Amino acid sequence: MTRYAHITGWGMSVPERVLTNDEIAQFVDTNDAWIRERTGIRERHIANPEETTGLLATQAALKAMEVANVRPTDVDMIIVATSSPEHLFPSTACLVQDRIGATDCGAFDILAACSGFIYAVDIAAQAIKSGSIQTALVIGSETLSRLVNWRDRTTCILFGDGAGAFVLQASDEPGGVLSSMLRSDGSGGDLLTIPAGGSSIPASPHSVGNDLHFIQMNGREVYRFATRVMAKATEQVVEAAGLKMEDIHLIVPHQANYRIIEAAARGLKLPLERFVINVERYGNTSTASIPIALCEAIESGRLQREQNIVIVGFGAGLTWGAAAIHWTGPFPSEKKVYQQRYQLLARARSIARRTLRRVEGWIYGRK
Ligand code: ACO
Repeated sequence: MTRYAHITGWGMSVPERVLTNDEIAQFVDTNDAWIRERTGIRERHIANPEETTGLLATQAALKAMEVANVRPTDVDMIIVATSSPEHLFPSTACLVQDRIGATDCGAFDILAACSGFIYAVDIAAQAIKSGSIQTALVIGSETLSRLVNWRDRTTCILFGDGAGAFVLQASDEPGGVLSSMLRSDGSGGDLLTIPAGGSSIPASPHSVGNDLHFIQMNGREVYRFATRVMAKATEQVVEAAGLKMEDIHLIVPHQANYRIIEAAARGLKLPLERFVINVERYGNTSTASIPIALCEAIESGRLQREQNIVIVGFGAGLTWGAAAIHWTGPFPSEKKVYQQRYQLLARARSIARRTLRRVEGWIYGRK
């Protein structure tokens, strides 16, 4: 029997603190008019020190599970797509797994920069369609404000913090993720990079002194690359899904720059109204930008059941990808799941496990 991977839950979380263009103009040589004209960005949300990538991811995930009405123990796989993980390891996905109390699942991060959310949706959908899992939690979460050089006007104006999450579930009913494509071109790896902090250039006084632990970008080249791939990737997944462009109700592109989205619309010969655009309020939230835009489209009623959409993005790597999705929404369920109860249980379980590990270490560590 053919299995399908439906998106049955969605949620987002953004920090409260909003940073406007005018505020940025107070500490670097820029101005609101330049930023708006070149990027379309008006403001972005910035995490406070307590708001980590894992925390935003957990908040978005809990909302998505609430919409899908699934228990954390139903989740078989957690994928966090992030360009700003809390650590190189453990993965941010494992931190989310512990916080939500998903006791029976695998958890891992993927790093495909801003295309990461599409990569994660593809991996989760394939795992569901193959029959190996039933339910997946896919999250895009970022605190890129911590990796931005706030003295570099060419990059600090672009990025923002936030998280978005989807629940994907198996069904025999046709629909869900219809087709997807993932691509990469590592020859452009140097166009957008954080040079230090990995094994190539480990953190050192030299790396920090030379700002090598911050985002570095060749904006013009990334712009050219992005405008080349967006339209083509969209057309490819629409064709692979057996659809035509006129069957697509909405396109949800990665929110990096208003002008890049305009160029994609021109390439596809579609009016801008067919695109979900919220870059003016969030900036580029990397892996979180597509799920945040989609959450807003759903909440505002722009996306309804039985409509087709395309998600499409690009990012460092270079990477790009797209997916065509038939939107169905939550599965009907009889009993309401109270997420707060599972939250309390998750916290108690986590504390108990840590304590047990300490006691065991104390007993066996002496042998
Ligand atoms: N304020 C004022 N002037 C500025 C600023 C600023 N914030 N930034 C650059 N300038 C100046 C430059 O110094 C340059 O001056 P010069 O002509 O005297 O040298 C001038 O403005 C033009 O600079 P460009 O880089 O040519 O500006 P451009 O029109 O290309 O816009 C931008 C720059 C917005 C970064 C654009 O190239 C872009 O959006 N690129 C894509 C970036 C992107 O999407 N990155 C995310 C990828 S996703 C991921 O994986 C994270």
